[in-house]
Formats: sequence, C-alpha cells, structure tokens
Amino acid sequence: MRIYDIIDKKRQGKELSHEEIEFVISGYMNSEIQDYQVSALLMAICINSMTKEETYHLTKAMLHSGEVLSLSTLGDKTVDKHSTGGIGDKTTLIVAPIVASLGAKVAKMSGRGLGFTGGTIDKLESISGFKTELSANEFISQVEKIGLAVIQQSENLVPADKRLYALRDVTATIESIPLIASSIMSKKLASGSKSIVLDVKVGSGAFMKTIENARALANAMIDIGKSFGRNVTCIISNMDVPLGLCVGNKTELWEAIEVLSGRGEKNLKGLCFTVSASMISSAFNVDYNQARKMVEDAVFSGSALARFYEWIEAQGGDVSEIKDSSLLLNAKYKRELYSKESGYISRLDAQKIGTASMSLGAGRIKKGDKIDYSAGVVLSKSYGDRVECGELVATFYSSSEELVNSDEACAMFFEALSVSNEKPKEQTLIYEILK
Ligand code: URA
Repeated sequence: MRIYDIIDKKRQGKELSHEEIEFVISGYMNSEIQDYQVSALLMAICINSMTKEETYHLTKAMLHSGEVLSLSTLGDKTVDKHSTGGIGDKTTLIVAPIVASLGAKVAKMSGRGLGFTGGTIDKLESISGFKTELSANEFISQVEKIGLAVIQQSENLVPADKRLYALRDVTATIESIPLIASSIMSKKLASGSKSIVLDVKVGSGAFMKTIENARALANAMIDIGKSFGRNVTCIISNMDVPLGLCVGNKTELWEAIEVLSGRGEKNLKGLCFTVSASMISSAFNVDYNQARKMVEDAVFSGSALARFYEWIEAQGGDVSEIKDSSLLLNAKYKRELYSKESGYISRLDAQKIGTASMSLGAGRIKKGDKIDYSAGVVLSKSYGDRVECGELVATFYSSSEELVNSDEACAMFFEALSVSNEKPKEQTLIYEILK
C-alpha cells in the first residue's frame, strides 16, 4: 500500500477501505507517513468528505492509537458530556455535580481554552489548589466515592487526534464534518462512558455556522456512537450570543454557583437543565420529563450545590475562595461600560465578546501563555433587554490596569453590541434534541 495512491484515491472522491485508513493512522503515528502527506489527505477529505463507513473506520483507528479507559468498575450509569465549544460555556461546572448528586457517575476529561473559546480546565484551575491531574486510581476512586471527577485529558488518550488536530489547525482543514465527528467521538469513546450527551453549538461563536451543518455533525456522531454500542444524545443549541452573562474564568465560576443555587440567567439555566436531564434520562433509562423533574429537585433542594463543593474539595481546591462567591468577582481593576444609545439589545456577538475577554487577560494568545483568572466580561444586559443611553451594559475585570483600560477591548465590546428601536425576535435556545 502506498500513501500516494491513498491521497490520489481520496482526491478523486473514492471511498477508502478499512485497511487504507488504518494504514494512514498507524503510518502517521510511527512516522512512516509525513505531515505533508497527511495534510494533503486531510484537504482531500475536507473537499470530498467521507462515507459513514469511512468515518467509522477513521474513528476506530484513532481510538486505538492510545489508551482506552475502562470504567467497568463504576457500573452502567456512567455518563459523559461534551460541548463543541463556545463563549461563556460553563455547563460542565453545573451539570456534572447535578447529575452526580442524582447517582450518575461522571468520569470526565476536559480541555483548556482554544482561541476565543474558554475551557473547563482553566476555569477549575482558577481555584487555588485544584488538581486537574490525578492518577488513574485516584480518578476512578473519586468517582466511586462522590460520583464525579474532572481532569485534563491524558496525554495517552487518542494521541492520533492530538497530531491530526494540530495539523488541521494550521492547514484550514478543521471544518469537515467527518473529521470533527471522528475527533470528538474517538476521545469520548476512549474515555469509556456508556452514555454520552453532546451539545452541538451553532451560530457566530461556534464552529458550525448553520443548523444544517450542526444537524449533519450531530447525526454523524450519533451513528458513530451506535456502531460502538453507546447511547448518544445530541442537543443542538444556540451560540449566536454568549451563554449566560459571564465570560472568563472566575467570573464563570461565580455564574455556575448562581445556577447551582437556583438563580442565574434563564438561557444558561435552561441549557444546563436540558443537558442534565438528557444525561439522567440516558443513564437511568427514564423518560426526559421525569429526568427534568429530578434535575430541578436536585438544584432547588441544594443537593447539587453541596455536591459541587464536595467535588472541589476532593480535588484539592480551596472551598473558602468560592463559598463566599463575591470573592470570585474581585479583580483588582474594573471598568464599567455604559450604553451609547437607548433601545433594545439586538445583537451581542459571542465571538467578539470572547475576544474582548481574552484581551483582558482571560485567555491565551499563544500556547503556554499565563491566564489572568480574575479577568473577564460580565454583562448587565442580555439579548432582547431594554437599555437606556448611559445605563450600565457590562463590566470588564482584570488584574492589569493597562488591559482593563485598553481601547482595543472597549472597541471590540462595542463592535459586538447593537441596539435597535424595535424589540428583536426571541432567539431559540435549543433547536433540536437528536438521539
Ligand atoms: N473539537 C474537537 O475535539 N475536534 C474537532 O475537530 C473540533 C472540535
């Protein structure tokens, strides 16, 4: 078999065999196949796509490029969730303790921020002492004890995805449904949970810009899950506006605690309750409405918040820093931003607000940059709200006086915002739930 012929075959739009796909992944991992050859193949896949069978074989080859976790000692109520990424997406911090407090087992690996999107691991590391690296034994025994643990993705899990993703990132080959589906699903399958709930984001702050593409991605991931005997649910949700009011790290932790306390912005709360109910429905094989009621009870009784504090403590985090949640909004410098006109908020561009938050220090410009955990943007108004000229619309937080006062962050924020005379049409939060 020759890599040249495989590239040529895909360039002509033909279907690759199981053996050819395995040959590419194993050859790439043992350095017999070069980056430039894989780049050419990825571009041919981007242009000509892959069939359902090819996507399955690619996922399988990637899955077996490294360690595959067994969660068999945790029973059959293991459940994982994944979001395709967005601005202000702190759902893991909220849904993991909710479902754990109801008896499901969440053994989860999460990522760091990427570009203008945030990452759960960075948010958790904003709590002093919180350990995001645990040994396999510590990880499993914590889940046995309290029902949840969230750690950084192990280096040994799906190493093929790490290499392919880095290549796709610099060769304009991220946006391909079979490549995204196999990348996400290989990692979820390797993480071992029986049920998987995927939140597929669509809109300006997401990889998928149209509902049709989001649906195609969701269906591709459901098909892969089915082939591997897992229950996969996909929620297609809106990412035209940031999720909730807070973007950053400590600012998002503050908002997560608000929701776990039964308060919080309605869209964030709505999505978290939907994701949690889908996880419970799948893990316990109960009807969605029954699961939703269980979720609401867990939040309003305080048991989900209690489990959240237990989790933070179990992973070494200093709970005193978050028990008085006002301490999470105490950046050294703050800057209030006031509306320049009166009307209704008719646009809050998620990507631009994410970029403004990054420029305050909340994200990394390049790999390895240090994050300012206190930095971020807190909105005072949501999409559709009435605002008067001179009224507070947002507050910037940063530990740098220079960054908080930068014209760049301010200009970016006002570019993200539109105010109109007419009240805008309500945005749909959840477009579809597919199984
Ligand atoms: N997230 C992933 O893990 N992989 C992709 O390809 C895109 C988003």
